[in-house]
Amino acid sequence: SHPQVLAGKQVIVTAGGTQEAIDPVRYISNRSSGKMGTELANAASLLGATVTLVTTRPEVQPLPGIDVVSVMTVSQLQEAVESRFATADVVIMAAAPSDFRVAKPATQKIKKVAGQDELTLQLVKNPDILAGLGQHKKRQFVAGFAAETESLQVNAAKKLNAKNVDLIVANQVGQPTSGFNSNNNAGTMFFKDGQVIELPLMTKSQMALKIVQEIGERLQ
Ligand code: PMT
Repeated sequence: SHPQVLAGKQVIVTAGGTQEAIDPVRYISNRSSGKMGTELANAASLLGATVTLVTTRPEVQPLPGIDVVSVMTVSQLQEAVESRFATADVVIMAAAPSDFRVAKPATQKIKKVAGQDELTLQLVKNPDILAGLGQHKKRQFVAGFAAETESLQVNAAKKLNAKNVDLIVANQVGQPTSGFNSNNNAGTMFFKDGQVIELPLMTKSQMALKIVQEIGERLQ
């Protein structure tokens, strides 16, 4: 059993890649499997928190007792998180929301047209949910992830400040041994107070426990 550093706390965790419709049968998404977020929800629950998991991948089942909210789009993810934010103590954004969505999804399946060899999709920017939470937070501890393929530290430090959050977990993605869809992950925690903690390659379950333990200690 683990020290119950999150006893009595409400924790929201997001997980998985969002889907943005192109037409009724096609969508834009990314390689996030929902594993990291689901492990974070499990870890927070093991440390005594009341946990809501907002996920695009409900088939990755969390521990019993965790409240699961199933979403697909960034807009749905935003609504689910923002409507629960006022009563939350901790929010961990491990989901991979699409930065852009299709401006006008087709209402019918897009057909091939004879002689037309190109198709252009117009994309519009999605809201940045994490940045919104950073702006509006009062007592909440808000944590984000930074999925980077290069200049990990510099980009993570930028996100920490630009989004006004308490913690950014930077993870190197783009390699098969960690990040998207792997069972393992590696990265670095950058706290608002300047503290930096390395997370060497380990299972997502181990990493999740380490992250929520560090957050729990800072809430005391
Ligand atoms: O799901 P897995 O397969 O287990 O993989 C885990 C993971 C690699 C997806 C996860 O660890 C991770 O890094 N998640 C964040 C992915 C991401 O969207 O990174 P980003 O650098 O684009 O976004 C930075 C932060 O802002 C993230 O906390 C993200 O949730 C948040 N964000 C991003 C865009 C947006 N429109 N709104 C947001 O809130």
